[in-house]
Amino acid sequence: MSMERRFERIGAHTHIKGLGVRNGKAEFKADGMVGQIKAREAAYVVVQMIKKGKMAGRAILLAGPPGTGKTAIALAISRELGKEVPFITLSGSEIYSTDLKKTEVLMRAIRRAIGVKIKDLREVIEGEVKKLNIEMAPHPYNPYQQIPSKIKITLATKDEEKTFTAGTEIALSFLQQGIREGDIIMIDKETGKVVKLGRSKDAPKEYDIEEETYIDKPSGSLIKEREFVYVLTLHDLDLRRARGGGSLMSLFFGGEREEITNEIRKEVDDMVKEWIEEGRAEIIPGVLFIDEVHMLDVEAFAFLNRALESEMAPIIVFASNRGITKIRGTDIEAPHGIPLDLLDRLLIIITEPYKEEEIREIIRIRLREEKVELSEEAFNKLVEIAMKNSLRYAIMLLGPIKEIATMKGIDKPGIEEVEEAANLFSDYKTSAETVKKLEHLFLP
Ligand SMILES: Nc1ncnc2c1ncn2[C@@H]1O[C@H](COP(=O)(O)OP(=O)(O)O)[C@@H](O)[C@H]1O
Ligand SMILES: [Mg+2]
Repeated sequence: MSMERRFERIGAHTHIKGLGVRNGKAEFKADGMVGQIKAREAAYVVVQMIKKGKMAGRAILLAGPPGTGKTAIALAISRELGKEVPFITLSGSEIYSTDLKKTEVLMRAIRRAIGVKIKDLREVIEGEVKKLNIEMAPHPYNPYQQIPSKIKITLATKDEEKTFTAGTEIALSFLQQGIREGDIIMIDKETGKVVKLGRSKDAPKEYDIEEETYIDKPSGSLIKEREFVYVLTLHDLDLRRARGGGSLMSLFFGGEREEITNEIRKEVDDMVKEWIEEGRAEIIPGVLFIDEVHMLDVEAFAFLNRALESEMAPIIVFASNRGITKIRGTDIEAPHGIPLDLLDRLLIIITEPYKEEEIREIIRIRLREEKVELSEEAFNKLVEIAMKNSLRYAIMLLGPIKEIATMKGIDKPGIEEVEEAANLFSDYKTSAETVKKLEHLFLP
């Protein structure tokens, strides 16, 4: 469940590759980021502090109206820290949504946000991706959500070629890493972990914004012994331990229902420390992004305060679009609903509403990312909608616009399709106002 959820969540931010800051200055448009210059430069300073170990015991708060790039910046911070750095999102309200204790939800999120990079000699399948086909199917628990269900991959070395099929986990891994035909990859036979090594020198060149490392197509057998470097999280290791250790494969079965005791966590921590001493592992602190921070209550804040002090802690980035509000579980009002002792530890970054040219560029990037081509007129209309309603709403409409055009058999949606989508789907301000106006019809 966790993995699919993560996949779904960062879907709107796939274009974010970093903060786009060079020599301390944010470029207007770089690494998928547009505008929001001051916040990006501040975030960049934070990244430098993290790298020097100067953020210990502190956290970040991104404060600003909805749709101003708080999630995008948090993700960019993790991207700046490295490709393998875990990025975990949690919404304040989520701590109440399961039968787990609130602090247990937080503890799991924290341990998911701490990576352990492990070096091991393993049997792998290594080759160039010749053909790739991912089938989508309804989610087993949610038939209206499409998730990759099956992947068929043809891999080749200079001397051998074979086709493999695998399930959801591996397919997701391909999608998340954006693996395409022409990439050279390595799959751990036992765990199914996939690592992209680079792009084959034999692959057709294509225009690309991303930097690529070009490498030689491997030779010999597809199956080899390799030093395999992979990242698991402390939470993965906890789960594995809770299930009685054994094969890493056990990671891919079962849900999150296992009971993880403090003893198990202690055992895992000790084991990881031992690996580190032996030079077989390294800790990779990730980013835990906690949105809607005002939904946390005093107990949760106390827990997080302690967590910030602990030896192994992720970088915690909070986000808020509230002003002064009550700290949940008390009658005390505080900025963003955050208790003072935590506020004192925060570096606060403000995100501001976008100007038209920023919105234009962000929408342009999302169009490319979602492979939607609009007529110039339609594009201008969408920008206008983003200015009037919200950026998020405009981006959200891309799905319906594409669908409406497909139904009409048009490949390049025009102004009509944009208007139709905006007409059919409301933004939340309008829907709330409408419902309010009509309330007298529903209420006794
Ligand atoms: N400065 C930016 N550059 C590029 N994309 C952005 C930027 N700010 C926001 N976005 C994109 O716009 C959408 C809304 O932003 P989001 O980060 O969800 O805002 P918030 O978290 O503040 O509500 C997302 O798809 C996000 O990736
Ligand atoms: Mg957000």
